Amino acid sequence: MAPHTVRPVLKWAGGKRQLLPQLRTFYPASFSRYYEPFVGSGAVFLDLYNMNRLHAATVHLSDINADVIGCYRMIRDCVDDVIAALRALEDDYERRGEISFYDVRDRQFNPARRDVHRAPDPSAAYTPPLAAMLVFLNRTGFNGLFRVNARGEFNVPAGRHDHPRICDEPNLRRLSSAFTLPGVTLAVQRFDDAVADAREHDFVYLDPPYAPLTETARFTSYSAGGFGPEQQQALQRTVVALARRGVHVLLSNSCAPQIRELYARNDEVRAAGLAARVVAARRAINSRATGRGPVGEYLITNVARA
Ligand SMILES: C[S@@+](CC[C@H](N)C(=O)[O-])C[C@H]1O[C@@H](n2cnc3c(N)ncnc32)[C@H](O)[C@@H]1O
Repeated sequence: MAPHTVRPVLKWAGGKRQLLPQLRTFYPASFSRYYEPFVGSGAVFLDLYNMNRLHAATVHLSDINADVIGCYRMIRDCVDDVIAALRALEDDYERRGEISFYDVRDRQFNPARRDVHRAPDPSAAYTPPLAAMLVFLNRTGFNGLFRVNARGEFNVPAGRHDHPRICDEPNLRRLSSAFTLPGVTLAVQRFDDAVADAREHDFVYLDPPYAPLTETARFTSYSAGGFGPEQQQALQRTVVALARRGVHVLLSNSCAPQIRELYARNDEVRAAGLAARVVAARRAINSRATGRGPVGEYLITNVARA
């Protein structure tokens, strides 16, 4: 890896680092603006940034998760304070391990987060300590999951980590510089609003919560509540509309039957110039050991392979 490569600060369900070699072959040779409406850990944004493909572009990063966007804004605007708070959390974790995790989660993060989520725009009410706690819980919690219960409390249990790297100061500073690049915006938005003004020659990478492969998975998946079959259908309509406008589109999704129906066997999709290709991928976050092997995923795109 190049010495100044910026890595994602959060481990995210569906993080795309493992799929980057396949995704890269479908980055357009040139584009005007870049949109990533399901940004999560930002693996593809950072890949383009590391390749120096974004220096002249306007970049719209968005996600529906206000905690992620609030945390990124704090890393952008107050990186010194985030680093100082994260160092203190790291020291405490080294002394007290799991006890420190639950103490932070239940006595500090959740009460502070409750206040922030009462604000009209929770992402704008985020603070450096809250951002540091989100990174800390993500790096020491189970599998880097972000999950809240019905009362809106973050309830992911502690993970099994020997010596997790909690505060990677140089990487946080580089990430802060990436978010500070002129033209980069961070917003809490639904995907359809986020790409509404994308036009010809822009590049949109879409990485929604994956459609579950089986009915059982549908009920256990983190996406079950938020991104069901109707949302997948709405996303397909958005993707077709973008392609018709001449936007360079790249979408990743699972090989679930619904996705095959929506994209691989659909005349409108073909007429819009989109093709669905299956690529091999290895999922890092999966609660069942049997789900960790290589699986096929769809890349749906109108970009010719490099
Ligand atoms: C598969 S993850 C993206 C992972 C990302 N590509 C990465 O490398 O980490 C899907 C993301 O979509 C977001 N999301 C879910 N529903 C959404 C919606 N309706 N509009 C925008 N974002 C949404 C989730 O918060 C989550 O961060």
